[in-house]
Amino acid sequence: MNAPLAPSHPLTVVVLAAGKGTRMKSQTPKVLQPLGGRAMLAHVLQACGTLKPRHLIAVTGHGATDVNAYIDRHRQVLLNTAQCTTVLQEPQNGTGHAVQLTSTALDDEAIVLITLGDVPLVQPASLQAVVALCNNERVALLTVALQDPTGYGRIVRNATGHVQAIVEHKDANEEQRAIREINSGIMAFPARLLKPWLAKLTNNNAQQEYYLTDVIGMAVADGVEVQTHCLPATQAWEVAGINSPAQLAHTERQYQQLQAQQLMEQGVRLADPARFDLRAAPGSALAGHLECANDVEIDVGCIFSGQVHIGAGSHIGAYCHISQASIGHHCLIAAYTHIDGETAGVTVGDDARIGPFARLRPGATLANDVHIGNFVEVKNSTLANGAKANHLAYLGDASVGERVNYGAGAITANYDGANKHKTVIEADVHVGSNSVLVAPVTVGAGGTIGAGSTISKDTPANSLTVTRAKAITVQGWSRPIKKQTR
Ligand code: UD1
Ligand code: MG
Repeated sequence: MNAPLAPSHPLTVVVLAAGKGTRMKSQTPKVLQPLGGRAMLAHVLQACGTLKPRHLIAVTGHGATDVNAYIDRHRQVLLNTAQCTTVLQEPQNGTGHAVQLTSTALDDEAIVLITLGDVPLVQPASLQAVVALCNNERVALLTVALQDPTGYGRIVRNATGHVQAIVEHKDANEEQRAIREINSGIMAFPARLLKPWLAKLTNNNAQQEYYLTDVIGMAVADGVEVQTHCLPATQAWEVAGINSPAQLAHTERQYQQLQAQQLMEQGVRLADPARFDLRAAPGSALAGHLECANDVEIDVGCIFSGQVHIGAGSHIGAYCHISQASIGHHCLIAAYTHIDGETAGVTVGDDARIGPFARLRPGATLANDVHIGNFVEVKNSTLANGAKANHLAYLGDASVGERVNYGAGAITANYDGANKHKTVIEADVHVGSNSVLVAPVTVGAGGTIGAGSTISKDTPANSLTVTRAKAITVQGWSRPIKKQTR
């Protein structure tokens, strides 16, 4: 069944992505709704791309401008070398109508694989199995038996078990609704057989649409064999069709559970695989990727996105959000820490202690043994070995030397309203609490800045610099008191 395709059978993939997705009740076209942080369509195109089709045709209609732009933006990375075209379906008169519109673009000698933009989790191996089963001589369907088949087209078989037709849920009678084997919507046909069937479709049904599923009855009538590749129940998630927010949320959990499972198989210790999320980086069409060395522990409720690397023995506390970052070994990232490298990335060295409630922004580059405590924000700054900023502080566009102690409430004033400027804090400096370092400025090595100082000129090494108004005490001063009103 998994025999490789003979080169004489070029593959054309058709992705149906024109539907409105009425049940989503959203301005965003259904196929662009995110699953694992990227459009459902990205999942489908990537899976199809692995089959190396000669041609991929996406049928778009509802929100076509956005959907076509999405395909255009990401086709290279998702589809590699496949020729890719889009066909406009306007109005959207059903899945059969959608495929009819591709008819003239289908080479007679090709196998046509139909996939649906709202069935995002289908795996390349299943697509490959359907294509191999078709083998350019029969109709092949991807099916699965569901506990609750509500809403799906049912696979109707005769007494000998041969497929006779697909009946849509809305058109099915009681007996047919009891059938648990459903149509995933993914099917493969020899193009030369499919084309005349498409031409004969009618819309005489409950939804007054041209159903692609009606070609199955036509194949049977023409004596063409219809075979199924039936997934085991444990793989049912592959063909979950997404028509509503509830189905999207349910499939998201299944997807996350799968990713969690894979990580646990690699030895990652997730406190609760049901409370774990790994997503694509915002705007990316590629899946998020979390790479962990041995003995990494991840507490509940963490969200990872984009590319994240965590070194051996590191512990990620509860409810952290970590994106585009590399974390060294034996680090403690305490609860509620937000690390977002966006495009510039964040690097945390070995043995760091970060958080709780810390925020590392793009370009934060921390060497080993660095401590960043609660409510400390670091952006586009480097911190050398052993530097510490333990409470309520801001470091932006700064270079911080080894063993610097950056006090509570200290900030770099790095922005003059027009430009960003750099602060250099040399090794072994102590910056007192509530100090403001007005950039550009350099604090010399080993120096101490007294608490509450505003430093706008470079300070010398190994000295105390303090800018502080002298305290005045007024003896016997009394506080104003409120006037009594009668
Ligand atoms: C469809 C199948 C059903 C199957 C189910 C699997 C038909 C008639 N029904 O039902 O047998 O069990 O998928 O999830 O094929 N689309 C277009 N143009 C249209 C209509 C739809 O491109 O005119 C696209 C949609 O964008 C979507 C896909 O086709 O990606 C399926 O359409 P949808 O309306 O969701 O069909 P279902 O009711 O789910
Ligand atoms: Mg659907």
